Amino acid sequence: MTTKKRVAILISGRGSNMAALIEAAKAPDYPAQIVGVFSNKPDAPGLDFARKNNIPTASVSHRDYASREAFDAEIEKALTNWAADFVCLAGFMRIFSTEFAQRWTGRILNIHPSLLPKYKGLHPQQQALNAHESESGCTVHWVTAELDAGPTILQRRVPILSGDTAETLAARILVEEHRAYPEALAKLARGEVAYAG
Ligand code: GAR
Repeated sequence: MTTKKRVAILISGRGSNMAALIEAAKAPDYPAQIVGVFSNKPDAPGLDFARKNNIPTASVSHRDYASREAFDAEIEKALTNWAADFVCLAGFMRIFSTEFAQRWTGRILNIHPSLLPKYKGLHPQQQALNAHESESGCTVHWVTAELDAGPTILQRRVPILSGDTAETLAARILVEEHRAYPEALAKLARGEVAYAG
């Protein structure tokens, strides 16, 4: 039997993608285990779900740190404690210091609710609507020092329907996110994809 990869998840809020990863990892043949959840918001609702699933959590407010580097050092401590092989960002809304991003490159991934390279940053669903796109979706990608710009691991597409608002589109994309993220993590935990930046 091969050893399961140890995966930490970083969140800032609801944590529905985190929950999808935790649920997927319950399958005996899933190639990764979730070893910890870190939040930069101590009141993030996702932390409760993790605790109820007996997953270790850590929360540290970025507001208590004078620099990005000092805050990132706290993340690093948690990742070291959990002996994480990989890190999944799941609605983690902080930008890393270049040093942290470079140290983890090839071991850290993110999910973003647009078909990257289109619509990076905030409010990607509204950006897609504003551009009168006929489809959108989600992208699981490697995290690099540049925001939302690392190589794509996989994408899932959804149609944009007439009458869509940012909220209805976000909900349609989220259904695909919850399938795409566990699938992407399984691929890299099995060594089927690797960072080739
Ligand atoms: C998700 O839609 C995720 O793709 C997005 O935030 C939401 C978090 O929801 N992430 C980004 O926009 C990152 N740039 P969740 O907390 O329920 O997973």
